[in-house]
Amino acid sequence: MAEFTTIIEPFRIHSVEPIRITTREERDAALAAAGLNLFSLRSEDVLIDLLTDSGTGAMSSEQWAGIQRGDESYAGSPSWFRFRDAVVELFGFAHVIPTHQGRAAEKILFSVVGGPGKVIPNNTHFDTTRANVEFTGAEALDIPVAEGRVPSSEHPFKGNMDVDALRALLAERADDVPVVMVTVTNNSGGGQPVSLENLRAVRAVCDEFGKPLFLDGCRFAENAWFVREREAGQADRPIPDIVREMAALADGMTMSAKKDGLANIGGWLACNDDALAEQARNLLILTEGFPTYGGLAGRDLEAIAQGLAEVVDEDYLRYRIRSTAYLGDALHAAGVPLVRPSGGHAVYLDARALLPHIPPEQLPGQALACALYVEGGIRGCEIGTVMFGEHAAMDLVRLAIPRRTYTQSHIDYVIEVVTAVAARASELRGLRIVTAPPALRHFTATFAPL
Ligand code: F0G
Repeated sequence: MAEFTTIIEPFRIHSVEPIRITTREERDAALAAAGLNLFSLRSEDVLIDLLTDSGTGAMSSEQWAGIQRGDESYAGSPSWFRFRDAVVELFGFAHVIPTHQGRAAEKILFSVVGGPGKVIPNNTHFDTTRANVEFTGAEALDIPVAEGRVPSSEHPFKGNMDVDALRALLAERADDVPVVMVTVTNNSGGGQPVSLENLRAVRAVCDEFGKPLFLDGCRFAENAWFVREREAGQADRPIPDIVREMAALADGMTMSAKKDGLANIGGWLACNDDALAEQARNLLILTEGFPTYGGLAGRDLEAIAQGLAEVVDEDYLRYRIRSTAYLGDALHAAGVPLVRPSGGHAVYLDARALLPHIPPEQLPGQALACALYVEGGIRGCEIGTVMFGEHAAMDLVRLAIPRRTYTQSHIDYVIEVVTAVAARASELRGLRIVTAPPALRHFTATFAPL
């Protein structure tokens, strides 16, 4: 069908969920009751929910068939073997340890390798990764390439790690670094990909200092698609091949199957190191469950095994990446400042640039996210000063796109709403924090207008 240029959803809709249209007055009231925190809204009060792409996607008919096939045996279930084989097929690690979601894998990994005095470098830690590192007393260090911190820069691999910064860290403090992490794609940095060339360079530095490299692989398939599209010499390679090369450069991974597992729950920790795997399995039994199910039901293991086969499909990835770019390109053309180029799973509005009259300490990202909700019932997520405090390099509002869930007309509506809010940006006011917990404050903090 190469002669046609419209990229279509490579599926049709099998079951539908109604969404509820609300009035501006209802949304004002709901937001006030939520303390201006979008996480505290009832989802029925949201029209288009772009809070996250995590666990919010639609499963396929084959995944639902897997749910029915799920074998709930406590130990050694066939669902476990299907899950394990699907993970090994793509990533090749010797040990696969199922967890209920990504942060459980992080918690176990950093409980083993973290601790006071340690430092863990990453291109950019996501919020739960940073929090799990810091919870052990270790330091979480972000070292993206310089282009990764400049929203308007069009660099093709803005998710790359700064290899010189990694080498400098290891030259100075090698004994304090138990593991090097690379997040694919770099979620906090705009859903931007990491090139194979960068991964190879990071691997070489890890080898120089004898350090293990772990991937935070949440969006591995989207990363592989960008590699195929943008990296020299990769254009004809099957996606699973690129994934296998990414994994072969690493010694292990943490994973949230709620993203590129195409499932609603699940994750894993994988590694090649026998001793690390044994320690991790002992912790797993304490908090998650027996090693052949971790924190999951047999039916979840089936859904993930099938999801991993579907997520590396070229037609799916072409549609997925194109539909995110469709939103980003339309907003860019309308003059809305955002992270360029579009990421794989989300578009990130640049609140600092759109609201120059609101300084970072007055939370421009949160102010913009609230305005999008009141204007059109759209729920996005602040990724900036509320989420990361003084570590925030940018103030962004992420519009994350659930997988296989919204249609082009939903996205056309989002484009209209964002453009309308941007047109009256100068009227938006900053916010102050009223209450906040000590860690991961963005989930439960409350706010008031200044
Ligand atoms: N790492 C990255 C890069 C993530 O984006 C997430 C989750 C996790 C780890 C943790 O996985 O949620 O299964 O425990 N990100 C979601 C988001 C929540 O909205 O971006 P989890």
